[in-house]
Formats: sequence, structure tokens, C-alpha cells
Amino acid sequence: MRPALDPILKKDELTRDDIITLLDIDDPAEESALFERAYEVKQRHVGTKVYFRGLIELSNICVKNCFYCGIRRGNRAVDRYALSEEEVLEAARFAVTARYGSVVIQSGERQDDEFICYIERLVGKVKEISDGKLGITLSLGEQSEATYRRWYAAGAHRYLLRIETSNAALYKTLHPDDHSFEARVEALRTLYRLGYQVGTGVMIGLPGQTTADLADDIAFFKKMDVAMIGMGPFIPHHDTPLADAIPGWREHKELHLRRALRMIAVTRIQLRDINIASTTALQAIDETGREMGLLAGANIIMPNLTDTQYRTGYQLYDDKPCMDENATMCAACLERRITSIGETVGYGEWGDSPHFLNAKKQH
Ligand code: 5AD
Ligand code: SF4
Ligand code: FES
Repeated sequence: MRPALDPILKKDELTRDDIITLLDIDDPAEESALFERAYEVKQRHVGTKVYFRGLIELSNICVKNCFYCGIRRGNRAVDRYALSEEEVLEAARFAVTARYGSVVIQSGERQDDEFICYIERLVGKVKEISDGKLGITLSLGEQSEATYRRWYAAGAHRYLLRIETSNAALYKTLHPDDHSFEARVEALRTLYRLGYQVGTGVMIGLPGQTTADLADDIAFFKKMDVAMIGMGPFIPHHDTPLADAIPGWREHKELHLRRALRMIAVTRIQLRDINIASTTALQAIDETGREMGLLAGANIIMPNLTDTQYRTGYQLYDDKPCMDENATMCAACLERRITSIGETVGYGEWGDSPHFLNAKKQH
């Protein structure tokens, strides 16, 4: 290990240069030291209980056309679906029985009235069938303040909206001209102001992204004071404009995974008491990717609750795992993975981040 690395790993507050140095680690021994340090910070600030958020992939209908995403509007090869109210409630009932603290309702973006009313009704119904016990997170993209207000009033209390990259110029290269970085940041601010626990995140290893960009992403998370981070490696999808944007991606995919894990580790060290998800995209690269995410500092897992018949319809990237596994199988499989690394599942708890709870106390 380089002598210069040890003092950096002992610091409580990293500089931008420190962050870049850590993200750029190449040596396996140094990387292990980084993960160990991140794990220590995780143990101290959030513990080793993993919280489950059951993921309901509501619909793959999307009005947007992000260049990286498999369900973008322009992809004709996708069969579009939307779950019925009963199908969503069925998934929510599973979450209640399995004692998941909360569910995440995620979907392609739509801003029409029918969609807004549907979500509002669903949120109310999910609350109802769970006696108010199930926490509800929405991940439904950019919406107007009025819509965010309605869904909050209906009972949603967390919202996930990834910034994808905090570099506005890079953001522009990943989206068509009618998508706006500024609107995305504004939406995050609005959600925060309305009282949602806000989650955001980025993709790691995007075409044209530098290590300095990733360091700035971590600074962005801090500045936005978010409660939760969900991030994972960029994985090319064969039917998108970015399919071949990273030549040799497949041959080097282990390197992409390791960089994503370093990003999780450095984010844990720098932000300490927030929730960080070990995302499915990690498992798309390596069978044990999500366990590696937990060992690098993540503490949240989102087991998929979507009915098997719809899973292939929600392929944002290639190699997405669990295409044939149902909610019961994923639940058992994930619990096994978690106990295999000596951690436990926080059944029946909301698992709000200490960061959010501490902030609330001060208000
Ligand atoms: N690789 C990795 N993540 C992706 N997402 C979309 N497309 C990809 C891809 N090709 C992520 C985005 C989005 C989330 C729902 O899925 O970050 O916010
Ligand atoms: Fe739609 Fe989200 Fe995919 Fe963009 S990333 S195309 S908004 S589902
Ligand atoms: Fe879905 Fe293993 S996580 S089957």
C-alpha cells in the first residue's frame, strides 16, 4: 500500500483530491483497505442491519428518451405494460406479509392526469391495506410541485430521483434536448422542501465521465443533504444509442464493478449516516455484486416484487438478474446473501436513515 494512502483513510473529512485518489485506486490491497474503512464507518453510523424496500416496477411506459435506458420512448422492441391496481396491491400485500418496512413504486415517466390520479389512489390504497404500516417511496421521475404535493398528501414520504450525473454538460450528452439538468435539480429541491425524504444517485462509468465528475457527484449529494443514495454502474443496453459507447465494456466489466464499489465506499466515508442502496445493477455484473456493495458500505436492498410475467419488460440495462424469479424467491435468496456475510435484515422497520432522523430533531 502506498504510504500516502494511510493518512487519507484515517481522515473524517475528505478533500476533493483525497476523493479522487481513493476513487482511482487500482491495487487490490489498497482497495480492500478502502472497503474496510468504509465498513467501519458504516458499522459506527448505521450498523449492519440491512433494510428491505420492496420494488414494484409499475410500468415501462415512459415519455422520456434518455440515451442510456432500455425502456426509453424510442425503443420499439419493448412490449409496454402497466400494472393494474389489484396487481400493485397484491405486491404490497406480499411486502406486508414478508415484513418489509416499505415499498418503492417505480415507473417510466408520465405526467398526464390519469397517471397522477392513479398514483394518488394507489398510495392511499397501499396505506389502507397495510394499516399505515408500510412506508411508501415513489420513483416516478420529474413532476410538477402540485403533483408532488398531492402524492405526499396521499401518504408517500420518500422519493427517489437520480440526478444521473451532477455534471450539467455530461448530463446534456446523455439526454435529448428537451430534457433539462436544471429542471432535475429543481425537482430535487422541491421534493426536499415539501418534506419528502429524498434519495438521489448517479450512474458510474458513463461515457465521457471522469473521476473528478464522480468526486463532484459526492459533493453534490452532500450539498443537497439527501437521506438516501442509490447508484450503480452504467451498463450498456443493446437497443439504445449508447449500446457501443464504451468499447470493450464486457471484457472490462469487473473493472466497472470495482469502480462502482469504490464510489459506494467513498460516499459512505464522506456522508457517514445516510442510507446507501446496494443496487441490482451491481448484481448484473457479478453474481455476488450486491453482497460486495454491502461490504463496501451500502445498507439498503430493494428486492423485486414485480410479477415474473412483467420482469422482462422492465429491462433498463442488459443482464438484469432475477428475470425468472418471483418475489418469494428473491426474498429468500437475498436473505441468504445477507446472512452469508454476517449481516441481518431489519424486518418490520422503516429504516429511516439516522441522517434524516437527526436532521428532523434539529428542526
Ligand atoms: N445502466 C445502469 N443504470 C441505468 N438506469 C437507466 N439505464 C441504465 C443503464 N443502462 C438507471 C438510471 C435511472 C434508474 C431508474 O435506472 O439511473 O434513474
Ligand atoms: Fe424513462 Fe427513466 Fe428510462 Fe429515462 S431513465 S427513459 S425517464 S425510465
Ligand atoms: Fe432475485 Fe437472487 S436476488 S433470485
